[in-house]
Amino acid sequence: MEAFDVAVIGSGPGGYVAAIRCAQLGMKTALIEKYNTLGGTCLNVGCIPSKSLLDSSHHYEDAIKHFETHGIEIDGSVKVNLKKMIDRKASVVEQTTKGIDYLMDKNKITVLHGVGSFKDANTIHVEGEKAQDITAKNIIIATGSKPGNLPFISLDKERVITSTEALSLKEIPKHMLVIGGGVIGLELGQVYCRLGAEVSVIEYADRITPVMDAAVSKELTKVMKKQGVKFYTSHKVNTVNRKGDTVTVTATDKKEATVSFEGDYCLVAVGRCPYTAALQLENAGVQCNERGQVEVNDQLQTATPHIYAIGDVVRGAMLAHKAEEEGVMVAEIIAGQKPHIDYNLIPNVIYTWPEVASVGKTEEALKAEGVAYKSGQFPMRALGRARASMDTDGFVKILADAATDEVLGVHMVGARAADLIAEAVTAMEFRASAEDIARMSHSHPTYAEAVKEAALAATDARPLHI
Ligand code: FAD
Ligand code: NAI
Repeated sequence: MEAFDVAVIGSGPGGYVAAIRCAQLGMKTALIEKYNTLGGTCLNVGCIPSKSLLDSSHHYEDAIKHFETHGIEIDGSVKVNLKKMIDRKASVVEQTTKGIDYLMDKNKITVLHGVGSFKDANTIHVEGEKAQDITAKNIIIATGSKPGNLPFISLDKERVITSTEALSLKEIPKHMLVIGGGVIGLELGQVYCRLGAEVSVIEYADRITPVMDAAVSKELTKVMKKQGVKFYTSHKVNTVNRKGDTVTVTATDKKEATVSFEGDYCLVAVGRCPYTAALQLENAGVQCNERGQVEVNDQLQTATPHIYAIGDVVRGAMLAHKAEEEGVMVAEIIAGQKPHIDYNLIPNVIYTWPEVASVGKTEEALKAEGVAYKSGQFPMRALGRARASMDTDGFVKILADAATDEVLGVHMVGARAADLIAEAVTAMEFRASAEDIARMSHSHPTYAEAVKEAALAATDARPLHI
């Protein structure tokens, strides 16, 4: 039986990054993955393929809606070749997952393909083409998550689908019903809306992206409505039925009336569930909570201290970069170091266009916590750069402590917000004040100037360009 210092189960962004950091720190490391390709949800059926389709569909939308205003005339029709778009996505995924194979080789990590399960707290059985047992002094569970569902919905994966199938459709839906106005519903809803589908988003809460700052939900609703997406908030879905090519969804609205929707596809995007099936955690003394998440302490240790768990399978945001940070943290803890993650400073991004990004506390959270704060906001339309590109939707909002001026939260909607949020994270990691950001030079003309202007507005209401 081969013995390792560390065995990692699951090769998503949590698992493969943990394996790399363990190897960098001199540990003999094994990475176990049940699928043939490495990279987990994120690389295979998550972040990378969804961004690939968002980018392709964005080019199409620009071509049919915006080129003409820029003085670009297309002689002939512009058509979508969905197969080609999906094939390009597949090749981006392939290149990216192959990149992980390269990283595993480079770091001399032993990759074992097969389903991992605990025989005891130090022995893992790997059931693959070749069945084998290995032992490890430390084990990291990084088995991620799977699409969630509602108890009364039967997912046939043809017309009643999850994000996984929505990333590989063979035709553009005529009318896509989306249950859930969260990240997946909005990103993939926007993809198919751009490609010509009618898209109706049915959301239980009274606003889309209910966990983000309310100003962000409001702006994104406004912009996406303008783009053609229909929203039905405060709608509780009760039934989903497929007959032939038609899917019917019924929901109760806030007046308790029953509303019925008919479409040819229904995307169920109501959250994801931690995935621990097949692990046989009981053989290792590892426990899960009532939500199915592996229970960990603040050092990410399970009830069996040399077994750790990271990423989507534990509490907290289900985000690739959160999983990566936890992977690095556990590797360093095993090596005897004392790393730390500030979970308040893990940014949250929605890759619609305009993009949405936020970090720190929302205005609603500050109110609920009774924190005295001030707010500065700057609209993208006031920027020269935004007018040049015609990306004038959105704003940057900075929330700062009323007494100390420390930045407590940054929320933005706008072109390239996904990249702009990095400045806010950096500033907050260094506990910057709004005035610190306001006094830093920002290149002109850029979208980043909106961050400076919002900071000026928060400092003492003195933005320069509105
Ligand atoms: P996963 O990536 O889920 O990886 C777990 C791996 O473990 C899988 O490969 C699985 O096969 C393997 N595994 C499970 N059980 C076993 C076993 N017993 N033996 C062997 N292997 C096993 N996040 C972002 O930050 N940005 C985005 O833009 C983004 N976009 C997304 C888009 C979509 C459509 C979806 C669905 C998710 C998206 N996410 C995004 C979320 C992101 O994909 C996850 O947060 C991230 O993949 C979690 O990483 P992980 O390592 O914890 O688990
Ligand atoms: P989500 O949690 O973002 O959104 C689910 C939505 O469904 C919520 O708004 C919720 O109120 C709603 N909902 C729940 N039950 C409902 C019901 N019965 N009827 C109507 N609406 C209902 O989950 P989603 O979109 O499925 O994504 C899962 C996870 O994947 C996200 O939490 C996120 O962590 C990750 N992800 C991240 C991305 C990114 O970082 N850009 C992109 C896509 C996914």
